[in-house]
Amino acid sequence: MVILDQRRLPGEMVELRCHNAAELTDAIRQLAVRGAPLLGVAAAYGMALAAARGDDIGETYDLLAASRPTAVNLRWALDEMRPDPTRERARGMHDDEVERCRRMSAHAVVLVPPDARILTHCNAGGLATGGYGSAVGAMRAAWEQGRVAHVWVDETRPLLQGSRLTAFELEVLGIPCSVIVDGAAASLMGAGEVDIVITGADRIAANGDTANKIGTYGLSVLARHHGIPFVIVAPTSTIDSGAADGASIPIEERDGMEVTTRFAARNPAFDVTPADLITAIVTEEGVHRAPYLASLPVPVRSR
Ligand code: MRU
Repeated sequence: MVILDQRRLPGEMVELRCHNAAELTDAIRQLAVRGAPLLGVAAAYGMALAAARGDDIGETYDLLAASRPTAVNLRWALDEMRPDPTRERARGMHDDEVERCRRMSAHAVVLVPPDARILTHCNAGGLATGGYGSAVGAMRAAWEQGRVAHVWVDETRPLLQGSRLTAFELEVLGIPCSVIVDGAAASLMGAGEVDIVITGADRIAANGDTANKIGTYGLSVLARHHGIPFVIVAPTSTIDSGAADGASIPIEERDGMEVTTRFAARNPAFDVTPADLITAIVTEEGVHRAPYLASLPVPVRSR
């Protein structure tokens, strides 16, 4: 299995070869491959790889499922693949995920005001989804309709998915953008320079509480204070109907060394934005608004 090593972007385009599920698990843990929908896609190919090698599918499932805990797409894809762990099925799931991105992005455009100055966090683009993107997909679709003036890209401490990956994707797409330090969001909002916040998601509970990259919750509080719409764009494969609310979502704690090598550090990788701070959740099924328990669709089955 050949993946683009996202740790090396934007400086270098380097392929990483995973010869078995254990190597893929390492690549996932180290964020060589990352982003909730892409984790599902990678896990699907990992199951197909294991089956082709004649490896134990149950063990492969357990190994990959334990690689990262928050993005529910990973376990969803493993469950989808388990009965039929073939390369054709993994390819079908990959194609479906990209198609969902295109559909949700088209739905999200109506929420983007004309000449929008959009703020985003982490990376929810083609790199994170296997193609096209969720939050970045929405920006891309809005840009094609002439609705985007500028994108503010949170650098996204500590692993810089914003300044390394999102800025790179926006540059390739030709969408004007500036990287900002995470702490700059409040003052830009206060100065009236942000019209909408759009992010992706790693897991959406049944009531709409949404886990995404650490720092997203703070943005939602800021957006509410400044009267700015806060929108989540994510596929139905990110919805966990089994999680009643955000308290049921496991939050990955990563090595403090990613924050500082000099001092003790705490490094939660995700936080939960309460549903009442979310203006809308957009999936491939459409635009969903509170109460999310009634409006959110159930996760789709794949081909
Ligand atoms: O730790 P990461 O880089 O995998 O975190 C990714 C995010 O938080 C993304 O915003 C989320 O997965 C949405 S990707 C479409």
